[in-house]
Amino acid sequence: MADLFDKFEGLTNLRNSLVFENADPYQIVMEDVISPTEAMIDGKHTILAGTNNYMGLTFDQRCIDAAQNALVASGTGTTGSRVLNGTYSAHRELEATIADLYGTAHAMVFSTGFLANLGMISTLAGKDDIIMIDADSHASIYDGCGLSDATITRFRHNDAADLDKRLGRLNAGRRVLVIIEGLYSMLGDKAPLADIVAACKKHDAYLMVDEAHSLGPYGANGQGVAADEGVLDQVDFIVGTFSKSVGTVGGFCASNHPDFEILRLASRPYMFSASLPPSVVASATAAIKIIKDDRTPQQNLWRNAEQLHTGLTEMGYQLGAECSPVIAVLIEDRDVAVRSWEQLLGEGIYVNLALPPATPQNTNLLRCSLSAAHTPDQIDKILAAFEKVKKSNSVNQS
Ligand SMILES: Cc1ncc(COP(=O)(O)O)c(C=O)c1O
Repeated sequence: MADLFDKFEGLTNLRNSLVFENADPYQIVMEDVISPTEAMIDGKHTILAGTNNYMGLTFDQRCIDAAQNALVASGTGTTGSRVLNGTYSAHRELEATIADLYGTAHAMVFSTGFLANLGMISTLAGKDDIIMIDADSHASIYDGCGLSDATITRFRHNDAADLDKRLGRLNAGRRVLVIIEGLYSMLGDKAPLADIVAACKKHDAYLMVDEAHSLGPYGANGQGVAADEGVLDQVDFIVGTFSKSVGTVGGFCASNHPDFEILRLASRPYMFSASLPPSVVASATAAIKIIKDDRTPQQNLWRNAEQLHTGLTEMGYQLGAECSPVIAVLIEDRDVAVRSWEQLLGEGIYVNLALPPATPQNTNLLRCSLSAAHTPDQIDKILAAFEKVKKSNSVNQS
């Protein structure tokens, strides 16, 4: 009998072809999480240099207190959809906090960032519409497209001229939704927002920007790359997540579109999934207020990013992009990448091992991401481990 799992043979072979000696990069268990930047892994004290905890807020007392109070006051969960019994005053307050951050009339909270993309994209773009996405888009953007009935086109990564050309080829009168990310999570490269906005305006296309990795690090109030580039008011839909800088879980979309509220009754991933629990809503609200009002975490994050980026560059490592909170070390040979990842872990440093097909341009990456909570001493330790690995492997030496 044919087996439903036959289709995974290729993936199984790929998985089995990864040779590692001591640690499986995809079976890491954080046995004890000590702080935003430290955990016990396999009994060893480890510096975390591969989380998305950009603002370092997961242990912030203000967020913990807010979550604890909400947990005690309102219980462990809402047990219902936002459109039935799952909207508490706190959900509305969180949406008002997001709308305030972006200066928009509306904001809608989803239960994850993945669901925000599914819920927005699949609902906004219908049968007669066109979606144009950056080729390096996150899986949730691709899956949102898959769930919509629209025609999907990809343009070359971060290439506003290619977008302009493709938009120019469309018949007048077609409704187009262009989707990009503010900061791309694998290589840490930023979108050329001003040029993309110009192309969208020229061709009357709507623009959605997913600020998943840029909410927090970028912008005078941490809103993201669109704000940093001064084009926030020209973006139609800002999507984001609470699972990175906000330090919990959940997702959102903010917009000024006058009919935005109807989406609450049209978006199936919004309607047919239980709303976020009160504790999560409370810590997200507290974290977003900190991101908006307190510049210290953002400054510390950039100090750390620059220290690591400069240090790795000086060692001769090839990096994915200019300095950003995501610093990807490119390793040509896959086996060397796996071995280097294991060696780093052996040195007490956890980074993300990212391999094709999950990476752009078939690159093998040791993906580092920084936190405001890293100390300069921790960054020195990360650099020392990379130095040691480089010496023993001669990785990436030109
Ligand atoms: C660009 C982008 N969008 C959306 C998501 C999904 O966010 P969440 O973890 O909240 O589901 C991610 C998460 O990795 C992401 O990188």
